[in-house]
Amino acid sequence: MSSKLSIFICQNCGNESSQYFGKCLNCNSWNSIVEEIKSKRSNHQDIKNSKKAIPFNEISSKKISRFTSGFKEFDRVLGGGIVPGSIVLLGGEPGIGKSTIVLQSAGKISLNEKVLYVTAEESLEQIKIRWERLNQKSIDLKIFAETNLSIIIEEIKRINPTFAIIDSIQAIHNPEMESSPGSVSQVRACSSELQNLAKDNNIALLIIGHVTKDGALAGPKTLEHLVDVVINFEGDNISSHRLLRSIKNRFGSTFEIGIFEMLEVGLREIKNPSSIFTNKENISGVTTTITNEGSRPFAVDIQALVNKTFYSNPRRTTTGISINRLHQILAVIEKHVGIKLSEFDCYVATGGGFEISDPSSDLGVAISILSSLKNVPPLANSSFIGELGLSGQVRKSNNLRTKIEEAVRLGIKNIIVPKLEEELNNNFQHSINIKEISNIKEAVDYSLTD
Ligand code: TYD
Ligand code: MG
Repeated sequence: MSSKLSIFICQNCGNESSQYFGKCLNCNSWNSIVEEIKSKRSNHQDIKNSKKAIPFNEISSKKISRFTSGFKEFDRVLGGGIVPGSIVLLGGEPGIGKSTIVLQSAGKISLNEKVLYVTAEESLEQIKIRWERLNQKSIDLKIFAETNLSIIIEEIKRINPTFAIIDSIQAIHNPEMESSPGSVSQVRACSSELQNLAKDNNIALLIIGHVTKDGALAGPKTLEHLVDVVINFEGDNISSHRLLRSIKNRFGSTFEIGIFEMLEVGLREIKNPSSIFTNKENISGVTTTITNEGSRPFAVDIQALVNKTFYSNPRRTTTGISINRLHQILAVIEKHVGIKLSEFDCYVATGGGFEISDPSSDLGVAISILSSLKNVPPLANSSFIGELGLSGQVRKSNNLRTKIEEAVRLGIKNIIVPKLEEELNNNFQHSINIKEISNIKEAVDYSLTD
């Protein structure tokens, strides 16, 4: 293997060797050795006619002209569309629908731009069968089934598309390396070559990477710093909803989400997410909160089930909110509403299992717990917003105004919110009853009357 350009480097101490060892001969650490390609340009003096630094004031800030992915929900997560020459990493569990969304998007983009889809996992026939299910049009879309990085790079250069897709990074390999496809070394080496290609030729590149729930197959994690945008495609096998979530974005805000539904004919965008995460039933143990994910507010139901426990340690489980938040909310209820919950099991779940990170959902969680415990439905047609402080106060919420607007749009009649800092526009007052409260006790007295 002496003709190969690769060397083996310990990620712990930096020791180099010409072959792989399970244990570093220098620092004795286990499994720390990773194969890397030896840099051909080792001498700095070789670099002639390279770029020069330019005065900052001479740089023009002309607006980046993005192109659409064909999906508004996808564009939102990207920060307003695809930036030419940018690199996007789309991660997600196997089978979640990455190839499907990307193929749909490729078709839509190809109506205006030149698109190349490189499939390293599936045959051309498999892609065609998927395409037929999707039932859509394409114009300038080419498909290339190949796993060898060198051949892929040559073909991308030959076709010179505006947008290229690599499906997936774990399935391609650099033939100059000994490591098998999908290994950290291969994933890193292939990505950095693709990165150079994209930047040099101004090709927008979308790289698909498989990630398991526990991050065990962490290949793609190691290349997050190499790419401009990292997006996760999430969902579960039970519901048909899928979320695109931006984790890193050099051209827009993170925390943006895009919502889709997986149908027989591929993925469909959900433009009105409030409609799928709420039920509008007035039953005990269920409240509605308005949460802000990215730039968009929408309503999500919170359901609680509180039962007398048969265990010495009561059971507490959550879906969609963190278990630590639930423990904290239970402690606040015990202390500041004066209800002992240590004898009760408590299960909390959000509508559709939607993952809420906005802390202003606390009040909705607390009221649904108490509503289930007392077996009393909360105030009809209402929605709850507010983060619970440890001393029982209801703290202010971000973007309260847009949340109230969303509640008005959904026809919600009562909204229980933290004390307002500024006067809201009077237009609201006619369409919704806004109840300002300053602590959890007030919220309970107002919304749970038995
Ligand atoms: P896929 O895009 O192959 O997943 P990934 O590339 O992330 O591994 O999607 C696979 C699943 O999607 C598969 O279980 C079938 C389902 N599916 C549909 O429900 N509808 C469709 O139109 C298509 C193409 C796939
Ligand atoms: Mg796939």
